[in-house]
Order: sequence, then C-alpha cells, then structure tokens
Amino acid sequence: MLLHLSDLHFGTERPECIRAIQKFCIEQQPEVVVVSGDLTQRAKFREFLACKQFLESLKIPYFVVPGNHDIPLYHLWNRAFRPFGLYQLFFGSLENTLVTQHFYLIGMNSIRRRYHTRGSISLEQIQKVDQQLMQAPANKLKIIVSHQPFYTAKENHHLKDCPALGQFAIQEWGKHQLYALLHGHLHLVAVYDLNQEFELNLSQAVYEVHAGTAISSRLHKNIPNSFNVISRDGSFQHYFYDEQQQDFIAQI
Ligand SMILES: [Fe+2]
Repeated sequence: MLLHLSDLHFGTERPECIRAIQKFCIEQQPEVVVVSGDLTQRAKFREFLACKQFLESLKIPYFVVPGNHDIPLYHLWNRAFRPFGLYQLFFGSLENTLVTQHFYLIGMNSIRRRYHTRGSISLEQIQKVDQQLMQAPANKLKIIVSHQPFYTAKENHHLKDCPALGQFAIQEWGKHQLYALLHGHLHLVAVYDLNQEFELNLSQAVYEVHAGTAISSRLHKNIPNSFNVISRDGSFQHYFYDEQQQDFIAQI
C-alpha cells in the first residue's frame, strides 16, 4: 500500500490531523509515504524542520517533491539565487527515484522560480523520465510524482497551472506503461484517466490522481482534510478527516 499525502503546508498544520496520520501508519504500515509538494506554507526553516520531524515520526520510507510554497515568495534574493536551498538542506535532491515492494516512483520537479503557481516541465525532463520508465522493473506499478496537476476538470478553472507540455509528456510516457501520476496543489480530490481525457489512444489507462491537503487548515471550498491510498493491485481509495471521530475515514 502507498499512502499519498499532499499540501501539508507546515505553518498551518492541524495537530489532530497529524496524530490521525501517525495512527493510520502504525495500524496500516504502508510501504511508502508520498508527499506531492507544498511541504511548507512559506518555505521557512522552522516549517521544513517540522515537516521533516513529522515524516521521520512515521518510521516509514517517504518520498517527496517540492511545491510552489517550498520556494521563498517574499525573500527575493533567495528566490532568485537559491530557491530550493532550504528544501535541499532537509530533503536533498529535487528529483529522486525509489523502488518499493510494489511501486516504482519517479519524482519530478515542476516548480520554476519565475512562476508563482504555474507548473512547468522541460523536454529534458520528459526524456529523462522516458529513460527511467524504460528501465523500471516490469513487475512494479510505475508512478510519477509532481506537484501541479497535468489535467483538471474545466469547471475548476485551474488549467492555467498545468504544465504546458503535460499532454505531450503523457503521450510519450504512456508508451512505457506509466500507471499513474500523483499531484496536489489544488486541494481537490479526484482521479482521471488521462488516456480518455486527452484522447491519446494508448493501450492502457494513465491515471491522474489529485490529493487534497492532508493536514493544513487552508481548506479549499471546505473540503475536509484528506489523503489517498493506492493498493498493491492499483486500486485507489480516498480518506477524509472526520471532525467528530478525529480520524481519517475511507470514502465509501
Ligand atoms: Fe501548490
């Protein structure tokens, strides 16, 4: 089982949600915890430190990518010359791969210092991921993690934040058995099949998985805190925080 968290926004975290995730990890023992960006609210040292302490407390391998909140917004010198300085101090490389029992994870940095919220990927990144997908073990579910979504329903009006080369990238990666992309950013919860949405004529589905904010008090449209679980068979399950039970409950 893979636990997909996103948009933690440390600095605005809810301790009760943190406790509920710690309990979930003790009980369910996911093989990996993925965080699809926006670890912090304002890219401050104490926020990165709190995030690192939270992830270490789970005692499960974790896999993170940066979000647009993880580079400085107001500190212009740092934004220009070392936008990922604190992120890398705490979490190392911006783009990692990880092999677990059932999953092959590829992290991709979609954050550019010149953009405030918009995601961007380059042709070099598309080629690099192509190579990684081709070399991935055939018996694993191949999953890419990046912050901004590649697709969202039109009524959400957030297409402007999707990387311009996203559809082209899916056309390429879909030829190499890419199973799913995990994103955050919009604080929405959804699963789409990009093969259908982009009308790509691939031989299999490529799932686009959006996660809400797992622990932040910055809720979008009052959607409760949430996370996703991907089982070893590839099925998806959304969990939402229940204020009465003070626990994350699987959506039926
Ligand atoms: Fe974001």
